[in-house]
Amino acid sequence: MASYSVNNRVALISVDNPPVNALSHHVRQGIMDGLKKAREDSSVQAVVLCGSGRTFPAGADITEFASGLASKEPDLRLVCKTLDSFPKPVVAAIHGTALGGGLELCLSTHYRLALKSARVGFPEVHLGLLPGATGTQRLPRVTHLANAIDIIVSGRQVGATEAYDLGIIDEVFGGDMLPKALEFAQSIAGRPLAPRRVSSLPVKGREQASAIFEEARQKTMSRSVGGALAPITCIQAIQAAVEQPTFEKGLQREAELMQFLGESGQARAQQYAFFAERSVSKWQLPSGVSYKTAKPMPVKTAAVIGAGTMGIGISMALISSGIQVFLTEQNKEYLDRGVKTLRGLISSGVKRKRLTEVQAKGLMSLLTPVLDYKSFSHVDLVIEAVFENMELKKKIFRKLDSICNPSTILASNTSTLNIDEIASVTARPDKVVGMHFFSPAHVMRLLENIYGKKTSPETIATAMHVGQKIKKISVLVGNCHGFVGNRLMGPYQKEACFLLEEGCFPQEVDQVLKVFGFRMGIFETTDLAGLDIGYKIRKELGLVGGDGPERMRMRERYSPLADRLVEAGRLGQKTGKGWYDYGKPGGRVSMKDPDVEDMIVNFSKKHGIKRRRIPPQEIFERSLYSLINEGFKVLEEGIASRDEEVDIIWIYGYGWPRHMGGPIYYAKHMVGLPKVYERICYYHSIYKDSRHWVPSTLLKKMASQQTSSKL
Ligand code: NAI
Repeated sequence: MASYSVNNRVALISVDNPPVNALSHHVRQGIMDGLKKAREDSSVQAVVLCGSGRTFPAGADITEFASGLASKEPDLRLVCKTLDSFPKPVVAAIHGTALGGGLELCLSTHYRLALKSARVGFPEVHLGLLPGATGTQRLPRVTHLANAIDIIVSGRQVGATEAYDLGIIDEVFGGDMLPKALEFAQSIAGRPLAPRRVSSLPVKGREQASAIFEEARQKTMSRSVGGALAPITCIQAIQAAVEQPTFEKGLQREAELMQFLGESGQARAQQYAFFAERSVSKWQLPSGVSYKTAKPMPVKTAAVIGAGTMGIGISMALISSGIQVFLTEQNKEYLDRGVKTLRGLISSGVKRKRLTEVQAKGLMSLLTPVLDYKSFSHVDLVIEAVFENMELKKKIFRKLDSICNPSTILASNTSTLNIDEIASVTARPDKVVGMHFFSPAHVMRLLENIYGKKTSPETIATAMHVGQKIKKISVLVGNCHGFVGNRLMGPYQKEACFLLEEGCFPQEVDQVLKVFGFRMGIFETTDLAGLDIGYKIRKELGLVGGDGPERMRMRERYSPLADRLVEAGRLGQKTGKGWYDYGKPGGRVSMKDPDVEDMIVNFSKKHGIKRRRIPPQEIFERSLYSLINEGFKVLEEGIASRDEEVDIIWIYGYGWPRHMGGPIYYAKHMVGLPKVYERICYYHSIYKDSRHWVPSTLLKKMASQQTSSKL
């Protein structure tokens, strides 16, 4: 809805659709009704358009995309056209965030005023779309073409001051917006409108257009994930502003490109991911207990045990959100080393101007390094991040249980180990929970929280709440080896290694995955994480150098190739060599390594495996369909309760391309379950010695439902 009032010959149209004043059908109709009244009232000399509550309209109503309501008249394009051609001056008064459709409205008015704290932007690219209600044609008419491309293709939010410098906003104010906007509207009443209509302005920088577009295309191709259509299509739409003879023709092209994206499937996948991300915080246990009833405990102080890779990242995430942290290590040398690393993270934040000196000091003051557990007795939460070893973790949990206040929650950052077994050594299994962070823990957005058999709703609610407080996307899952994220990683990694044994080299496998949209292939990813991590886990499971022939461990096909690398000191990027050669320890550019290729070829020869050229489609299916099959198994077992949980974990923790929706979404909606199931059965018929090819019962059932619904 939008309210209408007249104040000193200025009409005020105020959008009122909490919480973010999304431009739903009734809002668009409200704006049109207001404009009609302002046009017909001869006493009105100017119009101010604003948002009530906390923001200017912050975008389209995404729920209307699926229902078709987005195109119901008056659609946003008609509202923009009406504003642009309005016979009286219209002033946009921007506070909060004018995003997407909100910014398109602003660019259709004749003057744009904003509070200093306001932000504008076109986030459509993140939903697989482009600003399709005239945004791609208007923005390059108020700011230089190169800026318009940057803003639309990146989807970034631009602060009001920068927007003013770029020409997007005409005036920036502090204080109370509305009186200033009304005063401004009175001051411009009667001025000629023609030069203020954005549709009639020339594109800024059109003389250098071909060079600008060429550079933008190159940059976009190198930056955006493989196969993502939206960024490059955004550029094509902006190009229409330069190439089409009229504004109207440019709009037609924008509409065609918007339709292309809308029908591509990627936009639907990205919109699904958008809602999935918001839905995962609404957790529910199979028993029916849920976020609605469970109350979190307040967490103001925490202890972190282990100042290694994860402990430092976790401490940084906690102190950055104002939680006081006691950090401990097994000895002073390691503790000092950890504190030094953390200090380094903070000072690099200062260098990059993300933190002020004062903020940096404040963060360090929240950290207390300690060499014993005395100070842990009264903390609200302990997060253990020591080596991935069950006996060590049990020893620590026993000690914590005896020292900590009975109300303290004890969390483990284990990436695979059984939470119930860890909890069993304490007298408070209800207070034990898994909090699985991803590396680097202060950067990665995902937190996979794991509940055990006895974890209480209050403990779960607290773990989820802490995640929210430290700005993570928290997903709650059940307990099994590797939980959801690493459990799906298992078959993916195994198949990648089997592909090497049968004929591929690491770069061929990685290339197929990057074409699909992963930023890094599986071998590049494990080189970055450190090959020793997986090695330690396999050792813990008794797989490394275990009994039985080398290629079979625990009655399953096993590839020892990764173990060989670790045993040769090739731990990945940190040692300069892993699956690839990085030139030097800490190097980032992966180069293929003839030594690794020789090792692989010799392995195949020794074990009588005839190497063959493996087609990209087979590389793709064996890597990803094995993972998808495991995804359906975790759903079937109730480890994850919804598709969204699996999908969000893989998007945020493992780089599954967002425009491919997540493994379960991709299988269901982008390939189709009957086909996925058929291919899994095919590989199962060939690779009987790999349990991960046994088709999921749930997948089988759902595939047959999809088949019969199509008949
Ligand atoms: P790390 O080896 O970098 O750090 C472990 C630290 O724990 C070492 O500094 C070690 O000195 C310390 N430590 C060992 N025993 C201790 C004790 N009794 N008291 C205090 N400190 C002790 O290992 P990382 O990578 O940080 O892993 C820690 C945990 O996080 C493991 O359970 C791992 O599975 C898990 N994890 C690791 C991820 C990764 O990517 N590195 C990702 C997610 C979870």
